[in-house]
Amino acid sequence: MIRPEESRSRMLDLGAALLRQLPAETAHRATLVLARAAGRLLPEPAPDDPRLAVEAFGLNFPNPVGLAAGFDKDAQVPDAMAKFGFGFVECGTVTPRPQAGNPRPRLFRLRQDAAVINRMGFNNSGSTIAAANLRARRGHGIVGINIGANKDSSDRIGDYAWCFSELAPVADYVTVNVSSPNTPGLRGLQNRDELTRLLGIMTNARAKLYDDTPSARTMRKPILLKIAPDLDLHALDEIADVVRASGIEGLIVSNTTIARPPLRSRHGDEAGGLSGRPLFEPSTRMLAEMHMRLKGAVTLVGVGGIASGQDAYAKIRAGASLVQLYTALAFHGPGLVTCIKRELLACLQRDGFANVCEAIGTGEDQVKA
Ligand SMILES: Cc1cc2nc3c(=O)[nH]c(=O)nc-3n(C[C@H](O)[C@H](O)[C@H](O)COP(=O)(O)O)c2cc1C
Repeated sequence: MIRPEESRSRMLDLGAALLRQLPAETAHRATLVLARAAGRLLPEPAPDDPRLAVEAFGLNFPNPVGLAAGFDKDAQVPDAMAKFGFGFVECGTVTPRPQAGNPRPRLFRLRQDAAVINRMGFNNSGSTIAAANLRARRGHGIVGINIGANKDSSDRIGDYAWCFSELAPVADYVTVNVSSPNTPGLRGLQNRDELTRLLGIMTNARAKLYDDTPSARTMRKPILLKIAPDLDLHALDEIADVVRASGIEGLIVSNTTIARPPLRSRHGDEAGGLSGRPLFEPSTRMLAEMHMRLKGAVTLVGVGGIASGQDAYAKIRAGASLVQLYTALAFHGPGLVTCIKRELLACLQRDGFANVCEAIGTGEDQVKA
């Protein structure tokens, strides 16, 4: 017999299959509209199996599978996405001022490679709109906000400080994104000196926010840093040093890659960041490298090419406490989330782990460079 949850999942996947017939960005816009409607109609998801629960940077995640940044840039549908079973949702990237992003086309499906190339360029409605959307939320799921700088900004670090002050009070955590390949020069903020200055300003902004209004809303919000997968081992050493000294709570590994492994799809030569299956191996290797360097010092979030419970499990064994995905959702629809959680539980059981937490970092050696 088909359970109501499964039949709902199948309907959603059918809807997703229809959307895939549309051009990529049109499909994405339609998805946001449908998600908003679904958010009102869908019941709360069934409670997660307690073996999937993770406690990280002071928050209790019902399961470790999150929605990665870029899907919901303006924080329009975090509650709806939580209803599809995500353990947390990251909105953004948000910049202080609204910006249109790069000219279209700027989003390409690489079907044969189970991948996407995007050069969206931080299209978003600005921090004031995102903050208003987050303030109007009704749901109680964990929502992070991912922040960045405007393309034409003369003070990029100031942009991060602005976004932090405006958005930290209305989010559960804040991700500092210095790894988009689509804002020229942004990745330069990953250099030792720039990163030290940036994270110093973030932690000061946090201290100031809390000192000025020490309420639950401005509570010391966790800060995460999101890095690119296109870094050499020396750069990883430097980033690990800076992160350890900075007092931030987490590291997200990784954003999209500018590398181009052999691809079969006709859009493989498009400029922008590549995500999906071809990113799985390099981003997982990098995660293991960062786990070696940072063991226990900060929480690691594994992102890049996750399309199954086995993939999520591999990231967890490489050192991730939490994982995120985006591209596979575009190919498989929201039913994928339930499927990943079921497969993840099966992996844990097969290998004799009592819960997700027991498995974290236990396979680091298998994936190191
Ligand atoms: C269309 C698209 C837009 C994205 N926009 C952002 C963004 O605004 N900020 C960000 O930090 N990452 C962004 N990402 C990167 C994802 O959050 C994620 O790090 C990357 O896609 C790897 O995960 P995946 O292989 O599961 O998609 C974007 C990815 C895609 C495909």
